[in-house]
Amino acid sequence: MSDHLIAPHGGTLVNLFVDRDHETELKARSLDWPSHTLTPRQLCDLELLLNGGFSPLTGFMTRPTCERVCAEMRLDDADGTVWPIPITLDVSEKLAETLKPGASLALRNEEGVMLAVLAVEEVWQTDRESEAEAVFGSTNSEHPGVAYLLDRAQPFYVGGQVTGVHPVTHYDYKLLRHSPAELRAEFTKLGWTKVVAFQTRNPMHRAHQELTLRAAKEVEANLLIHPVVGLTKPGDVDHYTRVRCYQALLHRYPRKTARLSLLPLAMRMGGPREAVWHAIIRKNYGCTHLIVGRDHAGPGSDSSGTPFYGPYEAQELLRQHEAELGVTMVPFKMMVYVEELDSYVPVDEVAKGKRTLNLSGTELRTRLAAGNEIPEWFTFADVAHELRRSHPPRQRQGFSVFFTGLSGSGKSTIANALLVKFLEMGGRPVTLLDGDLVRKHLSSELGFSKEHRDINIRRIGYVASEITKNGGIAVCAPIAPYDAVRKDVRAMVQPLGGFMLVHVATPLEVCEQRDRKGLYAKARAGIIKEFTGISDPYEVPADADLIIDTTTLTPEEAAQQIVLHLEKEGYVGVEDDN
Ligand code: PPS
Repeated sequence: MSDHLIAPHGGTLVNLFVDRDHETELKARSLDWPSHTLTPRQLCDLELLLNGGFSPLTGFMTRPTCERVCAEMRLDDADGTVWPIPITLDVSEKLAETLKPGASLALRNEEGVMLAVLAVEEVWQTDRESEAEAVFGSTNSEHPGVAYLLDRAQPFYVGGQVTGVHPVTHYDYKLLRHSPAELRAEFTKLGWTKVVAFQTRNPMHRAHQELTLRAAKEVEANLLIHPVVGLTKPGDVDHYTRVRCYQALLHRYPRKTARLSLLPLAMRMGGPREAVWHAIIRKNYGCTHLIVGRDHAGPGSDSSGTPFYGPYEAQELLRQHEAELGVTMVPFKMMVYVEELDSYVPVDEVAKGKRTLNLSGTELRTRLAAGNEIPEWFTFADVAHELRRSHPPRQRQGFSVFFTGLSGSGKSTIANALLVKFLEMGGRPVTLLDGDLVRKHLSSELGFSKEHRDINIRRIGYVASEITKNGGIAVCAPIAPYDAVRKDVRAMVQPLGGFMLVHVATPLEVCEQRDRKGLYAKARAGIIKEFTGISDPYEVPADADLIIDTTTLTPEEAAQQIVLHLEKEGYVGVEDDN
């Protein structure tokens, strides 16, 4: 026996890759095979199938397996091996129609590289609602796992064995990525037989550091910090930032007892079932223990405030399967900071009358956005530093001011006055994307049909989102008469910085009376077709952050109102030296 590591799930560590000769042969034979381009989630699933992270699975599930997994949390094999989450490949109806059992399907990445071949065994359609109910205990689309199934997954499933041709490529943090076999080999070299894994999709703060250290000491095991860097919950901190935070924390563990490795898993946020899945995956990576805390892998609450899972439901389900899996759970209650002890303690161990402190994720985000202090009791200074670098306060973030209004309403004049104010204030690069300018430089081939106007606005939105992301100011001034596409632009920009919709609400009669370019007269005469307000609609925004009536305000006054609104929102503030 070469090592004393825990056996993989099902007994053997799966490796689905073929050797070089076979790879060349498969590529040659693939010329007339149908292809499927993998989605980001499917790429994650494929990577863990190919490298054995999902041992004993050797492909995407067929219907009997999927149904047994849903109903009983077991595979359809002789042993009825425990497996809680369906691993299925969803494809379009168009592709499904071409696939018959016995066919080969080339699974490709976005660039078209064939990563694997699926030997089609079965193509079928499932009842998504029943699957959601069985796996997630809910059909509410506010649950991200349910939303994927009901709203985004393609209608057909294709099941069959998978053969690996090319590993999924990653360019980021290569030295921190390991296959189960690689991590096991390292554990063997280091003499690590007892390893407790810590699963996380968030930055680690003091509570997590103390919890993991306590867990490792409690069971006298080495610690594997094993964060998910595949797909987590929408809105989570990006993995680049998180990995820098984890790295900043590593020196706070005793030397030679803790290490970091990244897991390319696509989480489902399935709470209890996901906890069992996490234990199986960690077992395949050579871990003997898994830390399971409060609401493990849960998506929190729905809009009515009802939690999807009980806070310790995941612990209860894993407890039932622990012995059969051979992975030991290290359960943890929520950790709270006890001021008097200057330390974190599980909530059920806090002595009566002791003052405890807590900071929610929302509060942390608010503090970061405002540039306020993040207390040392909450997170270590080096971690806070990393978070600040990626989440600068609003006054250092980029933003877009997006004007909408009729032709001749005064958008361009106010936009120009605003541009000058921003230039005078300094500190951020400013770009003006005026309607006419954009039509000259970005959209010269477009006309004024609804379709073309929407394309035009999306282009402006894309450029504004890039400027905002990179810390600049985009001042956009198109007519943008349609509500839906304006909302799309807001959704594009807002996650990257500020977004302010300004409705320049000059009445049509006034615009027409001014008729600075003579266009209204031409529109009335029918010389210009599809003219906004005359022969084409203008949908008045109900979601404007500011409404400007140019009949009562000068352009300077209007621009100043916008500056003041930005100040109120935190994007304009007192200059600092950072
Ligand atoms: S849109 O709907 O947002 O794509 O329009 P936009 O690109 O802002 O339009 C820019 C200018 O095009 C002139 N123009 C028209 N406007 C509306 N409807 C029709 N059919 C039309 N044909 C030409 C008009 O001068 C717009 O500029 P502004 O600055 O708004 O007057």
